[in-house]
Amino acid sequence: MTILVTGGAGFIGSNFVLDWLAQSDETVVNLDALTYAGNLENLASLNGNPRHVFVKGDICDRALVDATLAQHRPRAIVHFAAESHVDRSIHGPGAFMRTNIDGTFTLLEAARGLWSTLEGDAKASFRFHHVSTDEVYGSLSPTDPAFAETKGFEPNSPYSASKAASDHLVRAWHHTYGLPVVTTNCSNNYGPYHFPEKLIPLMIVNALAGKALPIYGDGQNVRDWLYVRDHASAIRAVLAGGRVGETYNIGGWNEKTNMEIVHTICALLDELKPDPAGSYQRLITYVKDRPGHDRRYAIDARKVERELGWRPAETFDTGIRKTVQWYLDHAGWVANVQSGGYRDWVAKNYGEAAAA
Ligand code: NAD
Ligand code: DAU
Repeated sequence: MTILVTGGAGFIGSNFVLDWLAQSDETVVNLDALTYAGNLENLASLNGNPRHVFVKGDICDRALVDATLAQHRPRAIVHFAAESHVDRSIHGPGAFMRTNIDGTFTLLEAARGLWSTLEGDAKASFRFHHVSTDEVYGSLSPTDPAFAETKGFEPNSPYSASKAASDHLVRAWHHTYGLPVVTTNCSNNYGPYHFPEKLIPLMIVNALAGKALPIYGDGQNVRDWLYVRDHASAIRAVLAGGRVGETYNIGGWNEKTNMEIVHTICALLDELKPDPAGSYQRLITYVKDRPGHDRRYAIDARKVERELGWRPAETFDTGIRKTVQWYLDHAGWVANVQSGGYRDWVAKNYGEAAAA
């Protein structure tokens, strides 16, 4: 049996692929365009593993997606591929509309094409798993209840609007065509292989380099943090037992202000790699706020707990300690990302043609 993963060279996708291959004996076909966010070095431990089939390609390329599905006939598609960084969506929304909306549309149509050729159990058990975000729900005040699956969509950034559009497409393909879909809306992930443009890895690598730790606005915005391997286990649980056509919110019950996060990272680095110049906290710098910055996200994860018995394995304390230690232990990965050297990985390991 085979599953198709899109975006499996990105942060969450690569953690999911590693987790999947460790937990099951199925093959993973990994379709990824290798944008700036795709890094095959994340999957270096799979080199030579016949159960990982990498296909470099764009989810907007219908002919390529059709050919990949026809060749591998996956029993499920787990769709991670997206433009994912809010700040980039503010500076250049076009790529977000293309990949997140057109790409999801293309994938849904191709999946519908494959699914229509299936019969019996294969047809009934086929799944299109759409990986989405809590940002589609909008922003909460300090006293609002956490996002439940019934909360209406109020996306505020080009990124979250494009993800909300993709969620609507997935819902419509189920409602209209019967495509067996499930959607998960997850809170902020953190952990290994996180590209250092996002808050947690940026703060770790900047602190280690003695650079400023830029806090947007007053630093009191709240996010709900989940260790990335817990997201992977939640997706496995929903793919295996989630009800078709349903959405499941995934979160870690870890609401923290950005300042709390940065203080925690500084304290861990002070303990694990003390800086003779003093505490890393001296590097904290307030900068101009992100336009349209959502104030608070919080996930009510009771549905996935109640229906599927899923719960995160990590607390924030255990997860953030593991994460800081991972970055300390993987200075080579960080250096390659910062120098752009990670982009040569494809040429070195898969040949020049694959890198083109
Ligand atoms: P990421 O930016 O790290 O990785 C995205 C991956 O998709 C990269 O490997 C990239 O090369 C690939 N990709 C981009 N455009 C593509 C295209 N047109 N065709 C094929 N591949 C393409 O993202 P991430 O943080 O790992 O997020 C993965 C998914 O999870 C996204 O859908 C995101 O919206 C969602 N999500 C992320 C978080 C989070 O905290 N990072 C939380 C909830 C949901
Ligand atoms: O909630 C899930 C979402 O979490 C995902 O859908 C997105 O793909 C993912 O990027 C993330 O979005 P955020 O905007 O919450 O993540 P980011 O790491 O960019 O920012 C987290 C918070 O930290 C946010 O309030 C902005 C703030 N921030 C971020 C950066 C990069 C700073 O204060 N300084 C920074 O330099």
